[in-house]
Amino acid sequence: MNKTFTSIFIGLLLTVNAITGSTQQFFKKHPQINPYNYQLVKEAEFDHAAVTSAHPLASMVGAAIMQDGGNAYDAAIAVQFSLAVVHPGAGNIGGGGFMLARNADGKLIGIDFREAAPSKGHRDMYLDSAGNPSNTLSRDGASASGIPGSVAGMFEILKYAKLPMAKLIQPAIEIAAFGYVITEKEARGLNATRAAFLKNSSAPSAFTQKEQWKAGDTLVQTDLANTLKRIQQKGLAGFYEGETAALIVKEMAYSKGIISLEDLKNYQPKYRTPLEFDYRGHHIISFAPPSSGGILIAQMMQMIQPYDVSAMGANTPAAVSLMAEAQRRAYADRAEHMGDPDFYKVPTKTLISNAYAQQRMADYKVGIAGQSKNIQAGKVHESEQTTHFSVIDSKGNMVAITTTLNDTYGNKTIVAGAGFLLNNEMDDFSIKPGVPNMYGAIGGEANSIQPGKRMLSSMTPTLVTINNKPYLSIGTPGGTTIPNQVYEGLVNMIDHKMSLKAAIDAPRFHHQWMPDNISFEVDFPEATIEALKAMGYTTAKRGYFGRMDGVVILNNGKKQAAGDKRGDDSVAGF
Ligand code: GLY
Repeated sequence: MNKTFTSIFIGLLLTVNAITGSTQQFFKKHPQINPYNYQLVKEAEFDHAAVTSAHPLASMVGAAIMQDGGNAYDAAIAVQFSLAVVHPGAGNIGGGGFMLARNADGKLIGIDFREAAPSKGHRDMYLDSAGNPSNTLSRDGASASGIPGSVAGMFEILKYAKLPMAKLIQPAIEIAAFGYVITEKEARGLNATRAAFLKNSSAPSAFTQKEQWKAGDTLVQTDLANTLKRIQQKGLAGFYEGETAALIVKEMAYSKGIISLEDLKNYQPKYRTPLEFDYRGHHIISFAPPSSGGILIAQMMQMIQPYDVSAMGANTPAAVSLMAEAQRRAYADRAEHMGDPDFYKVPTKTLISNAYAQQRMADYKVGIAGQSKNIQAGKVHESEQTTHFSVIDSKGNMVAITTTLNDTYGNKTIVAGAGFLLNNEMDDFSIKPGVPNMYGAIGGEANSIQPGKRMLSSMTPTLVTINNKPYLSIGTPGGTTIPNQVYEGLVNMIDHKMSLKAAIDAPRFHHQWMPDNISFEVDFPEATIEALKAMGYTTAKRGYFGRMDGVVILNNGKKQAAGDKRGDDSVAGF
């Protein structure tokens, strides 16, 4: 970025956006945050409070909200709405997610604002008359959308916040109305998705106003600014009723979507009791079904707990083999046993018990690859999907939110006149038993489509305490790789004593039972991969997966925040 952008910004500060009627209240008060000139900060320590998210502007907004008297919940709401503007590939108001929080007094809160199947949804809705599944309908266009939950989630979180919603959503309105400078990664994403945006949406949008975006271009999202203003002025009704709801339903008609006005009006977030378990002196708290993430990390970490992982060393053949065998077993349970607990009796208590974990590992043989005997292998999808952010405030309240449109830029449908992307979360259901979703994950009855049901997720917002004191907030995007990334990140910190940043940046591997292989990031040590092949493992190379973000409280009380090397992730605090 250069000074030109800075001076343009100052000009705009004094202006009212003629189309949205917005004025620069927040950015006038916080001139240190410049949407036209910002930098990525990958790691920093702060005395009081810290935020890490997928975008520097969202992180800085979150920190500023806490400086203005907000707590971690206030910051989280402001970050979520800001990400919906500055990180359109995954930040969202047209998707859903989970918030896991621990108050400084120890109270745990789990809010599920996952999308839900529309009332007209049913088990076979993506099958043709011959029973063949259509991945196109479950992934592209409005037919792939679940009822969005993010806005309702933010209003539920507001009950724990200190500032009014009007203040928390204001930064997002200003960034949308006055624009911000996009990064190289965002430009690449928008260019690569341009054709799909045009094909899947009933009208052109802010994202398609340029043929080719480049780093440094300014993205103005007027329709989105107006939608955010309706939410600011009318609350939940500004999204789930009235003009916005009508625009969503109108967009449905363009590509076989089935979300109705009633579906939108009836959407409710739900409270979920967080899952808890202990691992080598750390108390780990994660998200319950309809996420599979909490169960998976509880299973995998308890499966490896009897072994001296530290002595094996990080990413060595011995450690990867042990950890991948745990992954194989836990993910096999995911396919069979996990779904929305309001529709399917998930045996959570058994699945996360230590006794069950040890029983599952009874047939583990050191140094020999196991086998996932099963049906066809799915193709592993590589994209950023989803986004995670972490906040810890000065009182020690910890918030972890993972939120998603599912695929990058969701179903690539921008609601005409409302300016936001819709999710393609319906593909996270099992559209037919044994048919892999976009992540290659298979499922059955537990995750079949039913009206109002939430699709099984892998999102794993996770918190850690030590001796009942707040310690860590962490999470990541990455579809079915999410629980494995969190598991590996925690093992890196706890067993291998890595710093948060080193644990986040370390190369990753992934086994999800089916397909029966271990996939490795590009920079994973070759010697380990060769040794694993000799043990009998099938291996595959892939690009980076995930963008892990976290905040940890150091022994001296400072908050250390770290953002993943893999994306535009950036930290802020004070
Ligand atoms: N859509 C990704 C997940 O929820 O797991």
